[in-house]
Amino acid sequence: MNLAVVGTGYVGLVSAACFAELGHTVIGVDIDEEKVKKLKNGECIIYELGLEELLKRNIDAGRLSFTTDLKEALPKSDVVFSAVATPPNEDFSADLKAVFIVAKTVAENADKNLVFVNKSTVPVGTGKKCEDQIAQVLKERGMDIQIPVISNPEFLREGSAVRDTLQPDRIVVGINNSTWAKEMIDELYQPLTRVGKPLLHMNRESAEIVKYASNAFLANKISFINMLSELCEKTGANVRSIATGMGLDERIGPRFLHAGVGYGGSCFPKDVKALIALSKEIGIPLPLVNATHEINNHQRTRFFKKILDSLPEKATVALWGLSFKPRTDDMRESPSSDAIELFEKNGHKVKAFDPVAAENAKKLHANVEYSDSALDAVNNADVVVLLTEWDVFRGIDFTEVKNAMKGNILFDGRNVYEPEEVKDAGLKYVGIGI
Ligand SMILES: NC(=O)c1ccc[n+]([C@@H]2O[C@H](COP(=O)([O-])OP(=O)(O)OC[C@H]3O[C@@H](n4cnc5c(N)ncnc54)[C@H](O)[C@@H]3O)[C@@H](O)[C@H]2O)c1
Repeated sequence: MNLAVVGTGYVGLVSAACFAELGHTVIGVDIDEEKVKKLKNGECIIYELGLEELLKRNIDAGRLSFTTDLKEALPKSDVVFSAVATPPNEDFSADLKAVFIVAKTVAENADKNLVFVNKSTVPVGTGKKCEDQIAQVLKERGMDIQIPVISNPEFLREGSAVRDTLQPDRIVVGINNSTWAKEMIDELYQPLTRVGKPLLHMNRESAEIVKYASNAFLANKISFINMLSELCEKTGANVRSIATGMGLDERIGPRFLHAGVGYGGSCFPKDVKALIALSKEIGIPLPLVNATHEINNHQRTRFFKKILDSLPEKATVALWGLSFKPRTDDMRESPSSDAIELFEKNGHKVKAFDPVAAENAKKLHANVEYSDSALDAVNNADVVVLLTEWDVFRGIDFTEVKNAMKGNILFDGRNVYEPEEVKDAGLKYVGIGI
């Protein structure tokens, strides 16, 4: 099948490469000329396990190409995916400008039936708005063609995006009233359904909500354990024991019950905010979603305040980890960004090490001193703060850390270290909920 994937970011690029790997012919489209230039040369523009070889193999096989011009891709495409970003506006609502631009461009230039698939995370009702917009433009052009709009939300996780796309837990497809579009999508995903991956059909509104519901539920689980972490600190309990005690209950499960500095990234904060905005817009209360957001902010603020309170004047803070989670270079809504801004605003110096995300961090935080190793970052530091649990930070020799530092406190924002082990090296340990 011939596809266009518009937006070659974390979702679009992985989707394009994986669809090509599954045998489809794919054109990746992006307005960013620099990105497209690099992609045409087979250069991988994001850090994602296994993506580079997938790109190279499929470009070489002639199944994957890139362009900046959607108009050029349309005559060669049966299905157009929109995978553009939907970042939060100031009022928390999702910014849908890019989605509507793509829908309009398709409507203004298509001259045959095709299926428009929304892969971006969009609030319920957006598919209908796109379909209405497309119908209006086609009417104005006097074009008697059909462009049904389908919701096919993406569930991949950065860090394991290729595996998640090729081996998804489920594929959700929301279609209202188009049998031929349903047949096209079934055929498109046949390489995955053939090996038993579940494809769920539902109406478009349900598909749009499933994505937000999934992310808000996971974010809520994180906020729940983070809420308890403060109770543990006050009462002498240990949140790790609480999480283990809860997580062994099969009805609860251990995942997303790890207390820490709070969730970040381009999805959980944005999708929780968009649900809050939607709740206000349509007047349906979603109090758990509001609480999830508030707890996350509170958790970050109270952890950073502990660090700030421990610092002497003009201190040096060593940060371990910059990306919002391990195995990605994505800095969007990363706790490290908030930390850097706060420490610099208070007159402190930040030294940081991240195995992958430093290049992206440099574009945001020019005054940080970027180190080549975890040990280099702690040299002469007053405190060290673990913010991203990259594997490289797990095998740290705390005695070497203590000897290199000026101060003696390790703040463990991800609760990965054994307090005793850190203390044995002569460092003070501050975790979360411990
Ligand atoms: N990143 C994730 O882990 C993830 C997971 C699931 C769902 N999503 C959702 O997928 C969507 C995309 O997220 P992302 O992280 O890939 O975003 P991204 O910012 O990494 O990529 C978006 C890309 O779209 C391009 N673009 C913007 N406007 C365009 C236009 N008019 N025409 C062509 N290209 C255009 C940008 O240049 C950029 O390369 C969002 O709605 C997000 O919520 C993201």
